[in-house]
Amino acid sequence: MSFKLPELSYGYSDLEPHIDARTMEIHHAKHHAGYTNNLNNAIKGTEFENMPIEEILKSSNLSPAIRNNGGGYYNHCLFWEILSPNPKQGSSAFIELIEKTFGSHEAMKEQFAKAAATRFGSGWSWLCSKNGKLSICSTPNQDNPLMESGCGGTPILGLDVWEHAYYLNYQNRRPDYITAFWNIVNWEKVEAKYQASL
Ligand SMILES: [Fe+2]
Repeated sequence: MSFKLPELSYGYSDLEPHIDARTMEIHHAKHHAGYTNNLNNAIKGTEFENMPIEEILKSSNLSPAIRNNGGGYYNHCLFWEILSPNPKQGSSAFIELIEKTFGSHEAMKEQFAKAAATRFGSGWSWLCSKNGKLSICSTPNQDNPLMESGCGGTPILGLDVWEHAYYLNYQNRRPDYITAFWNIVNWEKVEAKYQASL
């Protein structure tokens, strides 16, 4: 068994103007494909072969190659899933949960954006579910909340803040990319991930 680069449920140009087609193509067909191939090579002949990716990420003795490429594989799979050119709202119960946790939807977005903007260098910001509770964190490089170094929650929304995710269009304006991201977040999918985490 080996991991496969997932097909996107939308075209490379469909997320424009928020994420441009060229960035999407390089990001998916080069970067994500690279993580996927490198992960498959790194686990070959090891105890991690045939293990679900979540179990690999939770393991305590990851080599740098498996940690970086396993994280890269999983993180990008999640990222593509929660984006949509036709984003849907979550249920009123899920919206209420966000409001109850963070004070308001806007306050949640602010806290998430702060985690994304202040992540030095390359990394990700996350909305996580842990025992039904929501929280926000960020991780460096291709690390992930599921890892030993992570918050221990299950990521249900993630934002890639590596320069490869935005530099062609936004250059050094990471905050503009973060603001644009909210226009293409499919909350229906985020909620489905929350439900699956329970
Ligand atoms: Fe990326």
